[in-house]
Amino acid sequence: MSLFRKKNNFSRPIPEHIAIIMDGNGRWAKKRSLPRSAGHAAGSKNFKDIARYCNKIGLKYLTVYAFSTENWKRPKEEVDNIMNILRDYLKDAKNFKDENIKVKFIGNLEPLADDIKVLIDDAEKESQNATGLHLNIALNYGGRDEIVHAVKRIINEGIPESEITEQTVCDRLYTAGQPDPDFIIRPSGEYRLSNYLIWQSAYAEYWFSDILWPDFKPKHLETAIEEFNHRNRRYGGV
Ligand code: IPE
Ligand code: IPE
Ligand code: MG
Repeated sequence: MSLFRKKNNFSRPIPEHIAIIMDGNGRWAKKRSLPRSAGHAAGSKNFKDIARYCNKIGLKYLTVYAFSTENWKRPKEEVDNIMNILRDYLKDAKNFKDENIKVKFIGNLEPLADDIKVLIDDAEKESQNATGLHLNIALNYGGRDEIVHAVKRIINEGIPESEITEQTVCDRLYTAGQPDPDFIIRPSGEYRLSNYLIWQSAYAEYWFSDILWPDFKPKHLETAIEEFNHRNRRYGGV
């Protein structure tokens, strides 16, 4: 087997970093007269399938939106349900460790339950030497919150104004050291970012679809990637 065997059949190189807003679990459940918790369970299963697929095709970075800083507004029962799904995911090492996936959580983890913080810490440590997909899970994540956090760090470090550049900010975001997302995908029929990666998405390409997250399959991602590959990215040039 050649070391340079292609990992996928895409017509062109795939994006380096894909970010997904995993939205539409509640409506998926409602359509089936099921409780919202069934939608989150289906969404979680789908997330595992998509992460595995991204790893298989050789994607370098995948960032998924799991829980926003605004999602605390939901009924406590629903928030608890989402946190329990997260616990199950983290306890099941085969979701990342056995898949050679490197997991990292982005967001303000401070307000989370102590046992979740321990599980997150273990998952990040256990998977830190993985050489496959870099999987960022955005949890209690908000783009504005992230920027405020970066500004506070800059002030605390006493960096003089004359030395502050875009890189100074980038280096203090939760995604420090990672490439910006090339491609942001939002299923569920909403056409907004909902406070997701607002700094990092400055030059991203977008792909929207009415498909609800639990129905968003590898074949849809494949279609989206093929479309991305035909976009003309100019970055302000000609
Ligand atoms: C996304 O699905 C999951 C989270 C925000 C945690 P939703 O729960 O927002 O599903 P809809 O938008 O109500 O259908
Ligand atoms: C965005 O979805 C957050 C996640 C998918 C985790 P929401 O369902 O919270 O977004 P809005 O409320 O429709 O903007
Ligand atoms: Mg939603």
